Amino acid sequence: MLGLAQQWAELPPAGTPATALDAGCGTGLFSLALARRGFQVSASDLAPQMAEATAQAALNAGLGDRVTSRVSDLEELSGNYSLVACFDVLIHYSSEPFVQMLSHLASLCDNTLLFTYAPYSQLLAALHRVGGFFPHSQRRTEIQMIHDRTVRETLAKCGFSISRSQRVSSGFYHVTLIQARRRQA
Ligand SMILES: C[S@@+](CC[C@H](N)C(=O)[O-])C[C@H]1O[C@@H](n2cnc3c(N)ncnc32)[C@H](O)[C@@H]1O
Repeated sequence: MLGLAQQWAELPPAGTPATALDAGCGTGLFSLALARRGFQVSASDLAPQMAEATAQAALNAGLGDRVTSRVSDLEELSGNYSLVACFDVLIHYSSEPFVQMLSHLASLCDNTLLFTYAPYSQLLAALHRVGGFFPHSQRRTEIQMIHDRTVRETLAKCGFSISRSQRVSSGFYHVTLIQARRRQA
């Protein structure tokens, strides 16, 4: 998924500052890829150890001047970036908070929005129901499935349209990767 997202992370038009936000950066794999591509990256994660891991990885890779890393919840993020990325974070938000969070990320983005969500499917919904019978200690992290229509409509309300979309599935991992672009006035 991250490999494909890297191919979709285009630099903004000439003359526009190439700034990027990697929200929920984890260990910083994508932040570093963006920095290598030429973006000035603001990486953030709710978990201090992840923000620290990203900062350290950037230093080790000689990209310390291109990546800043901080601890922050998605909803506290502010600023304006030409590219906003958020991978495998929104998959934990149920429909209403998902819409709020995606709208918030879109408000920070001038150009390209890249994110994943867990798409609703009847088969996976049935599997989730079966999983609900297992004790909490034996379950994987809760995944919230979102209808494609909800994603499309939320983006449209925020002035974005989907430019690329790809289902990525491997074992129990099922997400849709989205590239959305802000519509020009
Ligand atoms: C599955 S990892 C994905 C990391 C990275 N985006 C990637 O694709 O490699 C999810 C990350 O999101 C962070 N996270 C979860 N909820 C968050 C929130 N509300 N705000 C910021 N980060 C969050 C977690 O700490 C974790 O590092």
